[in-house]
Amino acid sequence: MDGFNDLGDFAPATIDELLALAKRLETHPEPRALEGKVLALLFLSPSLRTQTSFQAAMGRLGGSSFIVRPDLGIHGLEMRSGVVMDGDTAEHIREAIPVLASYGDVFGIRAFANKASLEADIEDRDFEMLRELSTVPVINMESAIRHPCQSLADWKTMDDIGVPRAGGKFVLSWANHPKALPLAVPASTVHMAAMRGMDVTVLRPEGFALPDAVMARARTAAEVSGGSVRESDDPRDALSGAHVVYAKAWSSASTYGVAEADAELKKDLGSWCVDDSWFDGAAEDCRFMHCLPVRRGVVVTAKVLEGPRSVVIQQAGNRMRVQMAVLHEILAGQEAL
Ligand code: CP
Repeated sequence: MDGFNDLGDFAPATIDELLALAKRLETHPEPRALEGKVLALLFLSPSLRTQTSFQAAMGRLGGSSFIVRPDLGIHGLEMRSGVVMDGDTAEHIREAIPVLASYGDVFGIRAFANKASLEADIEDRDFEMLRELSTVPVINMESAIRHPCQSLADWKTMDDIGVPRAGGKFVLSWANHPKALPLAVPASTVHMAAMRGMDVTVLRPEGFALPDAVMARARTAAEVSGGSVRESDDPRDALSGAHVVYAKAWSSASTYGVAEADAELKKDLGSWCVDDSWFDGAAEDCRFMHCLPVRRGVVVTAKVLEGPRSVVIQQAGNRMRVQMAVLHEILAGQEAL
């Protein structure tokens, strides 16, 4: 494997192999498998789970890691091309990435959407530029439109708790949020559930449909897997018989990058907070999923979050397990530098 950027880069059989490897490493630990290997981690955006789960994953396999973040006393990073650097920034990303890559065997990068252009973010142009600067395999730790490690962990979580693939009803629901959040998680999640062969409903109020390109990609994945993808603006309709409700806030495509307009669009949508009543017509054992971090009382009630339907802690735990499989697949067998 020469990197990990998008679940769609892999055949379903390869996804199953990765999940099987994650399971094997759970039951048969390999504490020396990545001895001598180094994981470089660059966080241009905040994180709790991703940074710690990658460090823990590398440690459990006998390797080591280092983290670089803007708040760690590094020189101010310049991301723009073609600028004269006579302001606050002292180091260009075009040097920083190859330098950091030269210290590692694999490189994890996180860079959220800058929201200057929906089209550019859907094409992940900024992240593609960063990826091309690395001389070692890159793991996408969340970019403008992708969060493949989260999606693989979510797939594993559903396998672990017995959510059916074929015939499984998956609802990705928009949720209220004070901020205009990016599209990486909803775009990756709808695609993952479609790849998994599930019957997927994207539930969202008027004005918050996912971009056409995101929906089209999910529908293509469903055609291959035997699943289906539809949209609804009616929670009762969407949740009827659902096995999973996956809540996530995302910004409107129509107001993309304009936070005030997004806030105006959702000013009366406070009821889009998942509570017990959402599950009235769902499958009896319907589960609640969220990638975390999550705002209590805004996205979901504390009662649902802490109740028996919620698998958010398992999802977060599986981040480490699937990332161990990804790191093992990329690095085991490579010669150390
Ligand atoms: N789900 C997720 O990626 O969490 P962090 O932003 O805390 O890394």
